Amino acid sequence: MKRILCIGAGYVGGPSMVVIAEKCPHHRITVVDCNPDKIAQWRSDSLPIYEPGLDEAVKRVRDRNLFFSIDVEKGIKESEIIFVSVNTPTKNFGVGSGQAADLQYWEKTARQIVENAESPKIIVEKSTVPVKTAQAMEEILKMNQNGKKMHVISNPEFLAEGTAMNDLEHPDRVLIGSHESEEAIRARQELVDIYAHWVPRERILTSNIWSSELAKLASNAFLAQRISSINSFSALCEKTGADVTEVARAVGMDSRIGARFLAAGIGFGGSCFKKDILNLVYLCHHYGLPDVARYWEEVVRINEFQKERFVLNMIQSMFNTLSGKRICLFGFAFKANTGDTRESPAISIARRLLEENAHVVITDPKALKNARDDLAEIKGAIDFVEDPYAAACGCDAIAVMTEWEIYRNLDYEEVFSSMRKPAYLFDGRNILDHRELQEIGYSVYPIGKPPMVPL
Ligand SMILES: NC(=O)c1ccc[n+]([C@@H]2O[C@H](COP(=O)([O-])OP(=O)(O)OC[C@H]3O[C@@H](n4cnc5c(N)ncnc54)[C@H](O)[C@@H]3O)[C@@H](O)[C@H]2O)c1
Repeated sequence: MKRILCIGAGYVGGPSMVVIAEKCPHHRITVVDCNPDKIAQWRSDSLPIYEPGLDEAVKRVRDRNLFFSIDVEKGIKESEIIFVSVNTPTKNFGVGSGQAADLQYWEKTARQIVENAESPKIIVEKSTVPVKTAQAMEEILKMNQNGKKMHVISNPEFLAEGTAMNDLEHPDRVLIGSHESEEAIRARQELVDIYAHWVPRERILTSNIWSSELAKLASNAFLAQRISSINSFSALCEKTGADVTEVARAVGMDSRIGARFLAAGIGFGGSCFKKDILNLVYLCHHYGLPDVARYWEEVVRINEFQKERFVLNMIQSMFNTLSGKRICLFGFAFKANTGDTRESPAISIARRLLEENAHVVITDPKALKNARDDLAEIKGAIDFVEDPYAAACGCDAIAVMTEWEIYRNLDYEEVFSSMRKPAYLFDGRNILDHRELQEIGYSVYPIGKPPMVPL
């Protein structure tokens, strides 16, 4: 039996430890967090995050071999393996503000480990960190007065919110990086042995520690780049009469390119893509590579361009004024099947619509609480309505922000009959049947396709 600790009970720490607990019933896992409310929620029937399949899995393992606690110090003392899964947001002050990763939570954790460790530990970096962070971690760990050996291993998490449980149970790969010394490789092997309980051995990659840290930033940069690439083509499609879905299908059938992550929309969101690319940009500048930095910076810039383009398109098509018009946002989460709204395109779009004096009505099956918090400081007319039919009633326009399945299956005739006319539908995710909507009477504005006015 191994005693495993995870520091940070967020979107990564919670689900990843639930899966380890389920797959390794002989290990004892404790998840700690400095936020007592979050730990209380993990212990309750109302978990702090929504992920399909998570509630059921928690019920199976909680208080069996998975425990939630606020006692970080005790957890450190008792454990042999410590996953560090704290947040590493973009720094918003001082040197590197707006780009560099803010490592204050992560450094605090390293110091807590040093102060409380009474036996050798394997420290696993699960948070996404700048390359070479393990070196800084080792510097801090060296201060350990008891002379206990600590090994830092990099094991970045590749899960995607909305499919986290499936991603954790059937990962494309698990990456474990370490130094090359015999001792370090032994420590790395302990982690390999844990994952090998359910992950096929050929999917567990081992590498040098810097490659592992950098591979996570590279993966997110490539994924975000694909979205910005197809979105840049969506703008060109709208100018030329091409259809971005047809372009994407033709491009994606090239086996060298592949079909996934080629859906044009209002841009990427989530807590990771923008932050990790900006962090990459900062690193490139730090290492004297301004050309590489500029290359990746454009991926973020195109994402901003796409959101602004969407809003300008709404203004233009609605007679150049949104003042007093009611606009219903279908979805607020940054993607379907999550309640997470961090960096959701819906936040900046809602803000821009309010600047235009529109009345914004927001509906979302899981993200209304977060939406309320995100917009708490913003002035203007905002309503939050759970039922999409009630939300759209009396509105001039609907704008689809999130690709939730429920929005595909609404009775759009009923919705249409309750809206002010002309009724507009801006499909920011291209998930609806545009021809059918046009036939009902909507003016339909998809992304990267010609607009469809009522027949
Ligand atoms: N969210 C994702 O989809 C995702 C995917 C892969 C990797 N990551 C990376 O994983 C890391 C965690 O992301 P997240 O989304 O889970 O963040 P999160 O904000 O949901 O969770 C982080 C948790 O760490 C806790 N914490 C911070 N400092 C602490 C300390 N000193 N002691 C105890 N608890 C502490 C916070 O209270 C918070 O609950 C980030 O580096 C992120 O980039 C996230």
